[in-house]
Amino acid sequence: MSKTNWPPLSRIPRHVAIIMDGNGRWAQARGLPRLAGHRAGTENLRRILQACTDFGIEVLTVYAFSTENWARPEEEVRGLMTLLTQYVRHELDNLDRHGVQIRHSGKVEGISPDILHEIQRAVERTRHNNKIILNVAFNYGGRAEIVDAARRMIADGVKPEEVTDALFEKYLYTAGLPDPDLIIRTAGEMRLSNFLIWQAAYAEYYSSPVYWPDFDEAELYKALAEYARRERKFGRVPSPDEPKTTDRDA
Ligand code: IPE
Ligand code: IPE
Ligand code: MG
Repeated sequence: MSKTNWPPLSRIPRHVAIIMDGNGRWAQARGLPRLAGHRAGTENLRRILQACTDFGIEVLTVYAFSTENWARPEEEVRGLMTLLTQYVRHELDNLDRHGVQIRHSGKVEGISPDILHEIQRAVERTRHNNKIILNVAFNYGGRAEIVDAARRMIADGVKPEEVTDALFEKYLYTAGLPDPDLIIRTAGEMRLSNFLIWQAAYAEYYSSPVYWPDFDEAELYKALAEYARRERKFGRVPSPDEPKTTDRDA
């Protein structure tokens, strides 16, 4: 089916989060080094970000590097760091021109100063853009995020009775962003791998068998179409005459 034949979607998630998995297997299947898969994966981010913008999605979060990924071979880690820095450096003008607001979710400690500088420069430069938010989960771990939040609350002298869901959210890396409505994982895995474990409480899940470098606009459309068919209940019993709940605020 060509793009022009895609039936319109009855509803679009505000926030889509993607676990971009399968770069290594994509490369292996072609007899290429793993890093070639990561390079192809980075290229694919361009295409999917554009598609998300076209679909009218407000926030795209991508899992780029987890706190556990440091345990990979040194050469792969170094390659991933180089790719991320190059992506931010080479794409910044283009992203800025297209109204993309870049955000970073992740632990600052552990990121090398030069990479951190590139990230902060990109975040600062694009902070007023409002076409789409590209939230890059880099050096991200859901448990680390919650621990960081608890530490900062204690350091701020927050009293036990002041701790609420809403206050906790203000201390997360994702403060100010809506919760993800749809979490997509590519390459067939069915686990969160420490991704957005607080924010995913009521997200819809979608697992695609396609490796991330091959996950194109048509695959994204399939995920969005499946999302549009889901009924979100947030623990409630919908009354028969009530329209389908589209999101938490509905
Ligand atoms: C995802 O692809 C990219 C990162 C984790 C950085 P993988 O590298 O995990 O690919 P597989 O799972 O080995 O195929
Ligand atoms: C999750 O993928 C992390 C990213 C996509 C950046 P992994 O490939 O690291 O997850 P596991 O090890 O299969 O759970
Ligand atoms: Mg993987």
